[in-house]
Amino acid sequence: MPDKPKPQPKSKPKSKSKRRSAAWFGPADRDGFLHRSWMKNQGLPNHLFDGRPVIGICNTWSELTPCNAHFRDIAEHVKRGVYEMGGFPLEFPVMSLGEPLMRPTTMLFRNLVSMDVEETIRANPLDGVVLLTGCDKTTPALMMGAASCDLPTIVVSGGPMLNGKFRGRDIGSGTDVWTFSEDVRAGKMELKDFLDAESGMSRSIGHCMTMGTASTMASMVEAIGMGLPANAAIPAADSRRSTLAHMAGRRIVEAVHEDLRMSKILTREAFENVIRVNGAIGGSTNAVVHLLALAGRVGIDLTLDDWDRLGRDVPTIVNLRPSGEFLMEDFYYAGGLPAVIREIGEFINKDALTVNGHTIWENSKDAPNYNREVIRPLDRPLVESGGIAVLRGNLAPDGAIIKPSAATPELMQHRGRAVVFEDIDDFKARIDDPGLEIDKDSVMVLRNCGPKGYPGMPEVGNMQIPTKLLKQGITDMVRISDARMSGTAYGTVVLHAAPEAAAGGTLALVRTGDEIELDVAGRKLQLLVSEKELAERRRDWTPPSGVERGYYRLYGEHVMQADRGVDFDFLVGHSGAAVPRESH
Ligand code: FES
Repeated sequence: MPDKPKPQPKSKPKSKSKRRSAAWFGPADRDGFLHRSWMKNQGLPNHLFDGRPVIGICNTWSELTPCNAHFRDIAEHVKRGVYEMGGFPLEFPVMSLGEPLMRPTTMLFRNLVSMDVEETIRANPLDGVVLLTGCDKTTPALMMGAASCDLPTIVVSGGPMLNGKFRGRDIGSGTDVWTFSEDVRAGKMELKDFLDAESGMSRSIGHCMTMGTASTMASMVEAIGMGLPANAAIPAADSRRSTLAHMAGRRIVEAVHEDLRMSKILTREAFENVIRVNGAIGGSTNAVVHLLALAGRVGIDLTLDDWDRLGRDVPTIVNLRPSGEFLMEDFYYAGGLPAVIREIGEFINKDALTVNGHTIWENSKDAPNYNREVIRPLDRPLVESGGIAVLRGNLAPDGAIIKPSAATPELMQHRGRAVVFEDIDDFKARIDDPGLEIDKDSVMVLRNCGPKGYPGMPEVGNMQIPTKLLKQGITDMVRISDARMSGTAYGTVVLHAAPEAAAGGTLALVRTGDEIELDVAGRKLQLLVSEKELAERRRDWTPPSGVERGYYRLYGEHVMQADRGVDFDFLVGHSGAAVPRESH
């Protein structure tokens, strides 16, 4: 646990490997002079260049990423730990990705950040790395980039905000925004009350405190073994978050001495644990694309079918919004992720190694559960079968996903008439058109919102229900798209249809009035139109033109589909950390 430090080593520990940093700081020649001398302009004394482990602290701090705005403070706590153990910490910035502000979507830039991280680590004299991650995409982006270098690495998540408070009750980031805004449209809430909730929702440092994508990814960090125990749940404002950062700083120095590289932790067994834990926590659908991409970086053959097969028997036992009732602060006080792993021990690969040098089971087997309403026992789950269901059929031959725990049970088997929206602008223009022919049994179809089509695969898949239906008391409908959905959202929402419409998927051929069948139990998603008719429609279809220049062009030419994690084709795999050439 982070608050149980190992004793300080009395003599300099012996490393298993030669340090990379020695190639920069070691030589007593012109190049060594250049490397050391310029660094000394920061007031760094001679002894820091004596061959001790150099630890990079990869920081996604930015005032444009409010969820990570406290990270300079966290970095200072990591540095304390590194110095204590005889290491030499050097903090560096990488591009940050803030969900609330970035357009058209942070997902467009996840791979770009992973390249920034990979190349910055490789190009510099680092022996180990601590990754500071928080807002949704910062976690997968940094892990993907670092995995392609494969140095000893620890992830420190920034922690969730304290529970939101509004007029005497708890409110959760994202989830309650969706609920309140639907209430305003349905005439159940005054606009001034809605606006009053703003400051109560985000009342401390930290990321979204629902079990949205940020909390899910922080849980994935812990479940896969890349973070210290308790990494997922300690609130950002709790002093124990700083303690955890301090202990990560101590531990990364030891990990360098042990040559505990990422590839020793990111094993097939560790990925399987993540899928099962995601089912138990009712985690975000976004975890699917991020984990597929991460697995691709370390050569693990993880597929969509693994998500379905490994997750389907795992009950959701964490009672957090959007699937349940509570928030991350409650989750921490209840025992956090170690308590969950202990509860679902029968589903866990117990020997998977973690960054503290212990197995996942050694870290969790004695973890107490202090609140069995927040973390339910296995025999009293929130949802019997959690996990992610993978659907196939002519509408998604390469797969689409749905999160059953966030869907309406009565809609999971459904046939309905398609109402098609060509893109997000078409959707916004027509959804509240009084003349739109749509009822509660219709199936809303949104296309051209996938990786290539938008571009960037934004979180627009949980299309809002038409106001006229909301006023009739309809709160959920079947929705299908090639987009993603916010981890804080809910509903009978089919996402990530692959291939996407812009890549020529069948989604591009659906017409308003067609019939669609959704059968979650049978894992089926079918457009009930004959093959002959679809072939004729395909002849009339023309692919959208790509973007001419810049990063958007690179993205459009190289991004893979959702079933491959939306990574770039040329980034799959890893190149290690070796750089044979000097810069001078
Ligand atoms: Fe940053 Fe939700 S907006 S975690």
